[in-house]
Amino acid sequence: MEHILVTGGAGYIGSHTLVELIKSGYRVTVIDTLERSEIKIIEGVEKITNTKVDFHKINCLDYLALDSLFSKYKFNAIIHFAAYKSVNESVVKPIEYYKNNIESLLTLLEVMKKHQVNDLIFSSSCTVYGQPDSIPVDESAPFKRAESPYGASKQLCERILEDAATVEFRIISLRYFNPIGAHESALIGELPIGIPNNLVPYVTQTAAGLREKLTVFGNDYNTPDGSCVRDFIHVVDVANAHVRAIDYLSRHPKNGSFEAFNLGTGTGVSVLELVNKFIEVTGIQLPFTIGPRRPGDIEKVYADPKKIRDAFGWQTNYSLGESLLHAWNWEKKIRNK
Ligand code: WQD
Repeated sequence: MEHILVTGGAGYIGSHTLVELIKSGYRVTVIDTLERSEIKIIEGVEKITNTKVDFHKINCLDYLALDSLFSKYKFNAIIHFAAYKSVNESVVKPIEYYKNNIESLLTLLEVMKKHQVNDLIFSSSCTVYGQPDSIPVDESAPFKRAESPYGASKQLCERILEDAATVEFRIISLRYFNPIGAHESALIGELPIGIPNNLVPYVTQTAAGLREKLTVFGNDYNTPDGSCVRDFIHVVDVANAHVRAIDYLSRHPKNGSFEAFNLGTGTGVSVLELVNKFIEVTGIQLPFTIGPRRPGDIEKVYADPKKIRDAFGWQTNYSLGESLLHAWNWEKKIRNK
């Protein structure tokens, strides 16, 4: 049974990926600092899969702890989620973001090299593109100047991986668009920390009465209804793509490779379309108002998912409505509603 190390596995996408890996018959080991998550998420994964999860509270910055773990297990591949991911926070704390996101990757690569573990799946982001010149965006699009230290840290990490993918490493970078929703069981989901920056957690917290109303940041963009357009993808579809990436690496023994894939639905949805879809599928009259544009927002971005579909034989299974319903079910669960 192939043994996968999942760093940041108590996080939003990491925990959903654990479920899909276990369901696919992989043995998993998880490391997480629990600095931005809680052990109850791992307990949720165990309930969903009826499997005990091998969890270690380890920071990827800790070379000795990683080295000891790699001495204990022979991992077949690593999925590296562990990173800080708030665009807004990164603007306020650039040094922390560069240190955490870049140094943890460098430490992991050093330990992988020492223990001759070659396969790595990296958690990247469509923010590496900035505002693309053409939409839908494919993997050939150039990296523009990142809008935030978060986006810049992902760009730098991808450059490090491209250069590190020498004779032994085989690396896949998955560029997420906008992951939303939660597992249909409502046993795992995105844990809110403070006031949500992201759209869907803000929508569900407003629907739950925690927020007075949603503000739509601008309706004067050059889009059909004036609000920004994004590529919202169900987190379980994102998780399944990671399992396919592991399969892909094991079938393609081409050492010394770095490949990037856009992980999106290929369908652009506006903020107002999402809000109206939420109202439609939940029946909740969501209070919202139109406010000024948010600095740093790009007008329109959605993926061309041809490369990942052709290479992995992967496709999305969930609709926008299902994603929003699952997000709402999770919100109600954590609010005991
Ligand atoms: C989406 C749209 C807002 C909140 C995210 C992640 C980033 C990357 C890409 C993974 C924007 C609007 C939001 C609100 C609003 N993912 N909005 N009112 O900015 O696309 O970036 O996905 O790496 O890490 O941050 O996502 O959810 O913040 O915003 O109108 O209260 O919703 O203006 O147009 P974004 P988001």
